[in-house]
Amino acid sequence: MCGIVGYIGNRNSQNILLEGLKKLEYRGYDSAGVAIHTEAGLELRKTKGRISELETRLEAQPLTGFAGIGHTRWATHGKPSDANSHPHTDNDMKISVVHNGIIENHLQLKEELEQLGYRFLSETDTEVISHLIAHHYEGDLTEAVRKAVSQVRGAYAIAVLSEHEPDKLVAVRWASPLIIGVGQGENFIGSDIPAILEYTRDVYILNDGEMAVLTRDGVELMTLEGNFIAKQLFHIDWDLMMAEKNGFDTFMLKEIHDQPRAYQDTMRGRINEGKEIVLPGMTLSAEQIRGLKQIHMVACGTAYHAALVGKTVIERLTRIPVEVDLASEYRYRMPVIRENTLVIAVSQSGETADTLAAMREARQCGARVMAITNVIGSSVAREADDVLFTLAGPEIAVASTKAYSSQLIAFYLLGLFMAQSMETLDQASLIELIAMLERLPSQVEEMLEGLEPVRQIAEQISNQNHLFFIGRGLDYSLAMEASLKLKEISYIHSEAYAAGELKHGSLALIEEGTPVIALATQELLLEKTASNIKEVKARGAYVIALALEGQTELEKTADQVIYVPRTYSLLAPALAVVPLQLLAYYTASIRGNDVDKPRNLAKSVTVE
Ligand code: M6R
Repeated sequence: MCGIVGYIGNRNSQNILLEGLKKLEYRGYDSAGVAIHTEAGLELRKTKGRISELETRLEAQPLTGFAGIGHTRWATHGKPSDANSHPHTDNDMKISVVHNGIIENHLQLKEELEQLGYRFLSETDTEVISHLIAHHYEGDLTEAVRKAVSQVRGAYAIAVLSEHEPDKLVAVRWASPLIIGVGQGENFIGSDIPAILEYTRDVYILNDGEMAVLTRDGVELMTLEGNFIAKQLFHIDWDLMMAEKNGFDTFMLKEIHDQPRAYQDTMRGRINEGKEIVLPGMTLSAEQIRGLKQIHMVACGTAYHAALVGKTVIERLTRIPVEVDLASEYRYRMPVIRENTLVIAVSQSGETADTLAAMREARQCGARVMAITNVIGSSVAREADDVLFTLAGPEIAVASTKAYSSQLIAFYLLGLFMAQSMETLDQASLIELIAMLERLPSQVEEMLEGLEPVRQIAEQISNQNHLFFIGRGLDYSLAMEASLKLKEISYIHSEAYAAGELKHGSLALIEEGTPVIALATQELLLEKTASNIKEVKARGAYVIALALEGQTELEKTADQVIYVPRTYSLLAPALAVVPLQLLAYYTASIRGNDVDKPRNLAKSVTVE
């Protein structure tokens, strides 16, 4: 995800900015840049690629100045390129801006600014901010920034440096983290603690709607309405590793907790005020959607499990038949691709060799290809006709968590978008489903605060050798993901079964004390799942059920029940996955495993 660093003080800012950016490298990025106020005015160096490339540029053409801002970009609007890298400036090169987040109304603002004569040099949403500040500048930078941000909608953490007032930096936060570091005769801006930890441990943490004006001698804090505020300094006693993980013990745990934001970011700008799904950049027209005869989905591992949920979502909402294939099978199985087939490739990294090959195979057979991926500029994104990006931010732990759940959000958006075009769902149901979708981030947040019982269950299962996950319908698809998660980090053997299939063979494996995790979030299938729970209980299984709040009848059959907040059955996997991720996490931790880097596995599988 993008990173911001800013410096104003008595030292040359170039190296402080560079070091700060290097501390943000772990978050993932595709380009980097700095703007520094030098004797010649505002000067920029920015480049696509690694920070080392920016460093090489700065070695060749160094910048000297006591105030500067820097950025690592993780592309969201516009491909990774020199032009799209931050900082962005106004046309007179007097104002420079770095930004994290997404400006939802950038297209409309861009149009208005172009009519006023402003020229755009990048494809980013950020560039509107630099032109807006220039447009409002009348001798007071803080006021101009305030007016500019009052026009933008979305999420932003912004740092501004201007040649008009080079002895100050202005920072603003709305729905994207930003901190202000306080030093002696110098002050700092950072999107994350690691960026400034080497220089100061005293920080102000900005809340949404707050701004800061930094000079070398002080920091003024105010609201977006211009009212000054007093804030307590927060002293950081974390070390660098802890700071990179935002205080969590591991990246996996941090990424599990990132999910409310990942959901929000993936939905942002895709649901308009009239509660319609809008997918900017989607070239698949309503007519083409109506003409689709079938959909194939291809993916590997966790992304394959997300596609299984996607199949149910799209079939239920549109009645278009969907087939899901493991990419490694699809590429060699000579798939039958008829006219009007859409193939959807799902991949967090966008670089998985089998997924790419399956996608190319589909193309060759004449299919139109769509990608759902988390990485802009990845091979899958570049080769697809259409891309629906998940905006989960970089995922560092090998075990996928927030990428999977954001893929589910992408499928809900896509399914609803298609249903809208096909008119397969009445308006009232569409609106209700969208409203429930929008509730998911806060429901996940609420859930993350109350999952202590999951840790206790992890204690119980951590010394087991075999374990079963069972479920029906979407619960079965989720059971597969839960089982993979547990296997890959705890190294405990587990299997996922369609609950109705048990009696066709696998029931023979159940014996006294065998742990069975029964997923029972699908209301229409609840009674059936309850019968399957009874079947395994009768053979001695120890059953832990996962149900929606209020489904208390399961307490009569299962040994323990974990509840997730109430939602529509179709949306339940996006909530129910959280305790299952944590179950795998705690079990692996209790067993002393390296949770972020499980044995034998790599984050990105770029070979067959
Ligand atoms: O980057 P991709 O989504 O294409 O990766 C696919 C799988 O390799 C990946 O999901 C893998 O199964 C994860 N380690 C699961 O946690």
